[in-house]
Amino acid sequence: MIVNSAEFVISNTDYRKCPEPDRPEYAFIGRSNVGKSSLINMLTGHKKLAKTSGKPGKTQLINHFMINDNWYLVDLPGYGFAKASKVARIKWEQFIADYLCNRKNLTNVFVLLDSRLEPQKIDLEFMNWCGEKEIPFAMVFTKIDKLSSSALQKNLAKYKKEMLKYWDELPPVFTTSSESGFGKEKLLNYIEFINKELK
Ligand code: GTP
Ligand code: MG
Repeated sequence: MIVNSAEFVISNTDYRKCPEPDRPEYAFIGRSNVGKSSLINMLTGHKKLAKTSGKPGKTQLINHFMINDNWYLVDLPGYGFAKASKVARIKWEQFIADYLCNRKNLTNVFVLLDSRLEPQKIDLEFMNWCGEKEIPFAMVFTKIDKLSSSALQKNLAKYKKEMLKYWDELPPVFTTSSESGFGKEKLLNYIEFINKELK
């Protein structure tokens, strides 16, 4: 798929105030600082569409972007942001959970995982939660430019092994780098494939 247009639509904390659920929607989620906003910019070819930062906790709202006048891409705040207060974390969990469970047109969630890390409890818990709620998701490993391909393969294998403890089969797996653009076409083609299936 070629991204011809990518426009910011609206930010909010209430799924009921999100745009009309009249087209397929894909949300990007994962730990704070894992590279969600950077990946969105890489996929859309717009360096500053989603706000990125070296400091975790940059994205705080549900941010809708319209792509090719055809589907929504959503940038979400990260989970596991250690510095957020307990109250802020609970609020976060509630509005994101409400969005994920109630957004009618949510077609797929991309769960971003830092490829440099071994399987993390918080990520495994989040993916299992998606399973319980029957929210379809794919795993997206980020920042692959930051490690050797053998180290990457090792971490991927560990993740797969861990996931197969809970799941009969693995969800789709993507490897990406927002620095090099690696993985862009495969991920966009996956979205295009689902969009066509929905027609
Ligand atoms: P929050 O909004 O705080 O939850 O973070 P986020 O997941 O949106 O992360 P963001 O895209 O803001 O990126 C966090 C940091 O990681 C920034 O300093 C990015 O430049 C860096 N980064 C993101 N993706 C990559 C990547 O593929 N390669 C490298 N080398 N750095 C990356
Ligand atoms: Mg962000």
